[in-house]
Amino acid sequence: MNEQIAILDFGSQYTQVIARRIRECKVYSTILPFDISAERLAALNPAGIILSGGPNSVYADKAPMPDPALFKLGVPILGVCYGLQLMAHFLGGKVEPGEKREYGKGTLSLTDKSCPLFKNLPADLQIWNSHTDRLTKLPKGFKAVAVSDNSPFAAVENRTRQFYGLQFHPEVAHTLQGKEILANFVHTICGCGQSWNMRSYLDQAVEDIQQQVGSERVILGLSGGVDSSVAAALLHKAVGDQLTCIFVNNGLLRAREAEAVQEVFGRQFKIRLHYEDATDLFLNRLKGITDPEKKRKIIGKTFIEVFQSSTKRVGKAKFLAQGTLYPDVIESIPIAGNPAAMIKSHHNVGGLPKNMKFKLVEPLKCLFKDEVRQLGLELGLPKEIVFRQPFPGPGLAVRILGEVTPKRCSILRNADSIVVEEVKRSGWYYKTWQSFAVLLPVRSVGVMGDERTYDYTIALRVVESQDGMTADWVKLPYELLETISNRICNEVKGVNRVCFDISSKPPATIEWE
Ligand code: XMP
Repeated sequence: MNEQIAILDFGSQYTQVIARRIRECKVYSTILPFDISAERLAALNPAGIILSGGPNSVYADKAPMPDPALFKLGVPILGVCYGLQLMAHFLGGKVEPGEKREYGKGTLSLTDKSCPLFKNLPADLQIWNSHTDRLTKLPKGFKAVAVSDNSPFAAVENRTRQFYGLQFHPEVAHTLQGKEILANFVHTICGCGQSWNMRSYLDQAVEDIQQQVGSERVILGLSGGVDSSVAAALLHKAVGDQLTCIFVNNGLLRAREAEAVQEVFGRQFKIRLHYEDATDLFLNRLKGITDPEKKRKIIGKTFIEVFQSSTKRVGKAKFLAQGTLYPDVIESIPIAGNPAAMIKSHHNVGGLPKNMKFKLVEPLKCLFKDEVRQLGLELGLPKEIVFRQPFPGPGLAVRILGEVTPKRCSILRNADSIVVEEVKRSGWYYKTWQSFAVLLPVRSVGVMGDERTYDYTIALRVVESQDGMTADWVKLPYELLETISNRICNEVKGVNRVCFDISSKPPATIEWE
C-alpha cells in the first residue's frame, strides 16, 4: 500500500466522496486533518495531495489553515474550491468575498486543452459549483486553463510546480466528467498506477493480521451485521482457529437470526463460535421500561457485561478484533460551520470498557462500507450477509414502542419476517436502505370473521438513504403494501391493523425510538 493520495480535510461535506472517487480509480487514498505538519505528511510519501473544499472563507477568523511548508514538498497538489483559494492565498494570489453564493450547475469551457487535468475531455463540461468567495488574482506562475459562466479562473495550473486548482467540485456526481478529472490528476499528473483493489487488499490484510497477531488468540464480537461478519471471515482466513467469535443473543434479534449466524459461521465457515444466550437477562432487565434512552442504556450496559464474562469463558486472548470502518476513524477536527448533532445515544453499542485489557485488531479500519462488502464477497460470504440491511444494536427494543415483553417481541418478529419476505420476493429489499416492521403499543377495534378484535398496530417503515443520516420513505407499489398488510393481519395473532410510515428523515428518524 505504498502508493497513495493524501486528502487534507478542510471540513467539506464532500471530503469522503473525494476519497472514494480516488479509490474508484484503484488508487489508495487517505483523509488527514487539515493541519497535519508537512513533515508528517512527507513521511507518508504521498504521490499527490488534494486540499478539500470547506465552509469557510480564507480570510475568516478561525479559517482552517494548512502547514504552508506543504507547498514545498515537491508533490503535485490539487486544490478543490476552498483548497484552490488556500493555494492562491498562500502563493500570492487574491481571494475576495463574493456577493452571493454561486451554487449549482454551470458550464466549464477549456481555454487550454493541453492541461493534463483535462486530458481526453471535451472543451465544454457540466460542473457543480458551491462557493461564495472568488479568486480575483492568480499567484505568480499560475495561469487559467478554463473559465466558467462566473469565473475567469474556474480551473488553474502551475504546470512547472504541478499545482492545480478547481473552483468547482469534481467529486460530486453533477460534475459529469469529474471522475475523469480526478483520474487524470492521480494517473497522469501524480503517476499512480491502478494497484488498489480488494484482491490485493485481502492478501495484504491477511499478511498484516498474521504479523500483528502472531500465535496469540483473538476474540471478536459477532453481531451478524456486515462489518463484524466480514471482519470474522477475514480474521479466520488469516489466523484460523486462533480466532473465537462470540455471538450474544440478547433476545431482541429478528426471526431465525441466531440460527442463521450459527449456520453460516459455525457450520459453513467452521469458525470457532461461542453462542451466548442471554435472552432472559436482557428481557428481565427491560421489564417495565418504556423510555427509549433508558432501554438503550440498559441494553448497552448488559451487552458489555455479558460479552465481558463470555470472553473469560472462552479462555485467555491477547487481541480483540473489531469491525471499525474508515468513516469512524477519520481524525476529523471540528471546524466552524460543520456541527455534528447528537440525536440518539446510539451507534457502536459494542464500545467496550477500558479495563478490558485487549490489544485491538481493526482490519477494516481503512475501508468504506462498499469496499467492505466487496471484501466480503471476495472472502466467499453469502450475498444475504454482504448486502444485508443495517440493524440497530439494541435490536427490536427500539422497534417495540413502550414496554418490551416476550409476547411483544414475538408479535413483532412474526410481522417483521413477513415484511422482509415480501420485500425480498418483490425485489425491493436490495433497492432500499431498510425495510422493517414497528410495533405500536396502540390497540384498536377490528373485526375478524364474526368476532370483534382489540389488537395492536404494526407500522411499516421502508426507507431509502445513502448513509442513514437523511432518508426518504419509499413509494412502494400498492399491491405490495396490500400483500404485506393482508398477510400480517391474517397471520400474526395480536395484530389487526397495518399503517405505512410516510415520513422522511429529517424531521423523523429511521427507527421509531
Ligand atoms: P436513526 O433512527 O437515528 O437511525 O435515523 C439511523 C441509522 O442508524 C441505525 N441505528 C442504530 N444502529 N445502534 C446501531 O448500531 C443503535 O442504537 C442504532 N439506532 C439506530 C438505524 O437502523 C439506521 O440505519
